[in-house]
Amino acid sequence: MSDMNLTLHIWRQAKGSAAGAMKTYKVTGISAHASFLEMLDVLNEQLQDKGEEPIAFDSDCREGICGMCSLVINGRPHGPDAGTTTCQLHMRRFKNGDEIYVEPFRAGAFPVVRDLCVDRKAFDDIIAAGGFVSANVGSAPDANAVPIPKVQADRAFDAAACIGCGACVAACPNSSAMLFTAAKVAHLANLPQGQPERLRRVKAMVTAMDAAGFGNCTNHYECEAACPKGISKDYIALMNRDYAKSVFVARDEKSGGDGGS
Ligand code: SF4
Ligand code: FES
Repeated sequence: MSDMNLTLHIWRQAKGSAAGAMKTYKVTGISAHASFLEMLDVLNEQLQDKGEEPIAFDSDCREGICGMCSLVINGRPHGPDAGTTTCQLHMRRFKNGDEIYVEPFRAGAFPVVRDLCVDRKAFDDIIAAGGFVSANVGSAPDANAVPIPKVQADRAFDAAACIGCGACVAACPNSSAMLFTAAKVAHLANLPQGQPERLRRVKAMVTAMDAAGFGNCTNHYECEAACPKGISKDYIALMNRDYAKSVFVARDEKSGGDGGS
């Protein structure tokens, strides 16, 4: 496969408070075996050789596991391939001479820091509100001492696959973070260790999600389509059920009920 020459239209924004705009670049000599981020590395080298400011974009593992890479490519978070992070997207997916549009994840709760980098601290705030187990569940039990049905273990594992990239938010017309929050809620809700704080957790995480300014889910399911880890929208239903329950339990507790879940 011969090398590719491409025309790139890339969002440039000096800092969050500055006005941004699309800028056009020609990039040459791109191997079809390169990843999308490696292609941007080549462009940045070409810009630096010309004394121009390189384009800022986020990445870390470049192996599809950290959730840092966050680009909207031709209108789709993480680009055209299903189940693929930006760092795992390869240039063989494109053709020599293609025009490609690259923008940051856009959402009010993800302010632009610079160029293609956005601040996803709002996700950290949601996790800090309850995405952990703080109840003392004792030391690690012997293998198989706590039986977990396979269906439940699979559900917990599938939910735990969320890498916190934010593509679900960027894809949603409401900038909703419900798929992300639901994945974190469902992971622990499907494990015995998650039960003691289950309702307190969902309430705290949904409250933090709302406080961060994310919109609500109105069932577009663009989140599920954009998610590189195949997180199911069904977890949103689980989160909504648990949240409703947490509200009723809180009312029970106020009126002297036992608050049992
Ligand atoms: S639910 Fe999917 S798209 Fe959303 S943050 Fe997690 S991995 Fe990314
Ligand atoms: S850079 Fe880590 S998932 Fe893409």
